[in-house]
Amino acid sequence: MEIELAKVDEVVDKYKGDEGMLIQILQDVQGEFRWLPKEALERVCKKLSIPISRAYRIATFYTAFSLEPRGRHLVNVCLGTACHVRGGSRILEKLEQSLDITAGHTTPDQKYSLERVNCLGCCALGPVITVDEEAHGRLVVKDIDAILDGYE
Ligand code: FES
Repeated sequence: MEIELAKVDEVVDKYKGDEGMLIQILQDVQGEFRWLPKEALERVCKKLSIPISRAYRIATFYTAFSLEPRGRHLVNVCLGTACHVRGGSRILEKLEQSLDITAGHTTPDQKYSLERVNCLGCCALGPVITVDEEAHGRLVVKDIDAILDGYE
Protein backbone atom coordinates (compact mmCIF):
# COMPACT_ATOMS: atom_id res chain seq x y z
CA MET A 1 0.00 0.00 0.00
CA GLU A 2 1.34 3.38 -0.96
CA ILE A 3 0.88 6.20 1.49
CA GLU A 4 1.57 9.90 1.30
CA LEU A 5 4.77 10.24 3.27
CA ALA A 6 4.60 14.03 2.94
CA LYS A 7 1.72 13.92 5.44
CA VAL A 8 3.95 12.07 7.89
CA ASP A 9 6.70 14.61 7.37
CA GLU A 10 4.26 17.45 8.07
CA VAL A 11 3.23 15.88 11.37
CA VAL A 12 6.79 15.29 12.55
CA ASP A 13 7.77 18.81 11.49
CA LYS A 14 4.81 20.25 13.39
CA TYR A 15 6.33 18.80 16.57
CA LYS A 16 9.77 20.04 15.51
CA GLY A 17 11.13 16.49 15.42
CA ASP A 18 10.80 16.19 19.22
CA GLU A 19 10.98 12.48 20.08
CA GLY A 20 9.34 13.25 23.46
CA MET A 21 6.17 13.93 21.47
CA LEU A 22 6.13 10.45 19.93
CA ILE A 23 2.67 9.51 21.24
CA GLN A 24 1.13 12.73 19.93
CA ILE A 25 2.93 12.29 16.63
CA LEU A 26 1.54 8.77 16.28
CA GLN A 27 -1.95 10.04 17.18
CA ASP A 28 -1.75 12.67 14.45
CA VAL A 29 -0.38 10.20 11.91
CA GLN A 30 -3.23 7.84 12.75
CA GLY A 31 -5.60 10.79 12.34
CA GLU A 32 -4.34 11.16 8.77
CA PHE A 33 -4.60 7.52 7.72
CA ARG A 34 -7.10 6.09 10.31
CA TRP A 35 -4.38 3.54 11.19
CA LEU A 36 -0.59 3.30 11.44
CA PRO A 37 0.88 1.89 8.24
CA LYS A 38 4.34 0.33 8.59
CA GLU A 39 5.79 2.83 6.09
CA ALA A 40 4.51 5.71 8.20
CA LEU A 41 6.06 4.29 11.38
CA GLU A 42 9.36 3.79 9.58
CA ARG A 43 9.30 7.37 8.36
CA VAL A 44 8.47 8.80 11.79
CA CYS A 45 11.29 6.85 13.42
CA LYS A 46 13.78 7.73 10.72
CA LYS A 47 12.99 11.42 11.08
CA LEU A 48 13.23 11.22 14.88
CA SER A 49 16.36 9.03 14.73
CA ILE A 50 14.86 6.44 17.06
CA PRO A 51 14.50 2.66 16.68
CA ILE A 52 11.23 1.49 15.15
CA SER A 53 10.71 -0.83 18.13
CA ARG A 54 9.83 2.25 20.21
CA ALA A 55 6.97 3.17 17.91
CA TYR A 56 5.73 -0.43 17.83
CA ARG A 57 5.83 -0.62 21.64
CA ILE A 58 3.52 2.40 21.88
CA ALA A 59 1.31 1.33 18.97
CA THR A 60 0.70 -2.08 20.52
CA PHE A 61 0.31 -0.82 24.12
CA TYR A 62 -2.47 1.70 23.53
CA THR A 63 -5.69 0.25 22.15
CA ALA A 64 -6.48 3.56 20.45
CA PHE A 65 -3.75 2.75 17.92
CA SER A 66 -4.32 0.34 15.09
CA LEU A 67 -1.69 -1.45 13.03
CA GLU A 68 -4.37 -2.63 10.60
CA PRO A 69 -6.47 -0.52 8.24
CA ARG A 70 -9.57 0.80 9.97
CA GLY A 71 -13.00 1.40 8.54
CA ARG A 72 -14.51 4.81 7.88
CA HIS A 73 -16.56 4.44 11.08
CA LEU A 74 -15.27 3.13 14.38
CA VAL A 75 -17.86 1.36 16.54
CA ASN A 76 -16.84 1.00 20.17
CA VAL A 77 -18.97 -1.34 22.27
CA CYS A 78 -18.76 -0.88 26.00
CA LEU A 79 -18.40 -4.04 28.05
CA GLY A 80 -17.56 -2.28 31.32
CA THR A 81 -19.41 -3.49 34.41
CA ALA A 82 -22.34 -1.07 34.20
CA CYS A 83 -22.94 -1.83 30.53
CA HIS A 84 -22.25 -5.53 30.90
CA VAL A 85 -24.95 -6.01 33.55
CA ARG A 86 -27.41 -4.20 31.30
CA GLY A 87 -26.81 -6.45 28.32
CA GLY A 88 -23.68 -5.03 26.66
CA SER A 89 -22.60 -8.47 25.47
CA ARG A 90 -25.92 -8.98 23.65
CA ILE A 91 -25.32 -5.65 21.91
CA LEU A 92 -21.85 -6.82 20.89
CA GLU A 93 -23.23 -10.13 19.59
CA LYS A 94 -25.79 -8.27 17.51
CA LEU A 95 -23.16 -5.94 16.06
CA GLU A 96 -20.93 -8.89 15.22
CA GLN A 97 -23.86 -10.57 13.51
CA SER A 98 -25.01 -7.47 11.59
CA LEU A 99 -21.52 -6.50 10.46
CA ASP A 100 -20.44 -10.12 9.98
CA ILE A 101 -17.12 -9.53 11.73
CA THR A 102 -15.85 -10.15 15.23
CA ALA A 103 -14.62 -7.42 17.58
CA GLY A 104 -11.17 -6.16 16.66
CA HIS A 105 -11.85 -6.36 12.92
CA THR A 106 -12.96 -4.27 9.96
CA THR A 107 -15.65 -5.04 7.40
CA PRO A 108 -14.30 -6.01 3.94
CA ASP A 109 -15.81 -2.83 2.44
CA GLN A 110 -13.81 -0.81 5.01
CA LYS A 111 -16.98 0.87 6.27
CA TYR A 112 -16.91 -0.21 9.92
CA SER A 113 -14.34 -1.29 12.47
CA LEU A 114 -15.65 -2.88 15.63
CA GLU A 115 -13.87 -2.65 18.98
CA ARG A 116 -14.74 -3.56 22.56
CA VAL A 117 -13.86 -1.09 25.31
CA ASN A 118 -14.14 -1.10 29.10
CA CYS A 119 -15.90 2.17 29.81
CA LEU A 120 -17.01 5.07 27.67
CA GLY A 121 -17.58 7.36 30.64
CA CYS A 122 -21.37 7.49 30.43
CA CYS A 123 -22.28 4.43 32.52
CA ALA A 124 -25.77 5.73 33.41
CA LEU A 125 -26.69 5.36 29.74
CA GLY A 126 -25.67 1.69 29.57
CA PRO A 127 -25.52 -0.30 27.50
CA VAL A 128 -23.65 2.18 25.34
CA ILE A 129 -21.86 2.17 22.03
CA THR A 130 -20.14 4.99 20.21
CA VAL A 131 -19.95 5.35 16.46
CA ASP A 132 -17.08 7.71 15.75
CA GLU A 133 -17.69 10.51 18.30
CA GLU A 134 -21.42 9.89 18.72
CA ALA A 135 -22.74 7.96 21.74
CA HIS A 136 -25.85 5.78 21.58
CA GLY A 137 -27.21 4.72 24.96
CA ARG A 138 -29.90 2.65 26.68
CA LEU A 139 -29.69 0.29 23.74
CA VAL A 140 -31.64 -2.82 23.03
CA VAL A 141 -30.69 -5.29 20.34
CA LYS A 142 -33.39 -4.14 17.94
CA ASP A 143 -31.91 -0.58 17.87
CA ILE A 144 -28.66 -1.68 16.28
CA ASP A 145 -29.55 -2.08 12.60
CA ALA A 146 -31.25 1.34 12.48
CA ILE A 147 -28.17 2.95 14.04
CA LEU A 148 -25.85 1.31 11.52
CA ASP A 149 -28.13 2.36 8.67
CA GLY A 150 -27.66 5.96 9.76
CA TYR A 151 -23.99 6.07 8.67
CA GLU A 152 -22.76 6.40 5.13
S1 FES B 1 -19.38 0.87 31.86
FE1 FES B 1 -20.16 1.37 29.90
S2 FES B 1 -19.97 3.51 29.85
FE2 FES B 1 -19.11 2.99 31.72
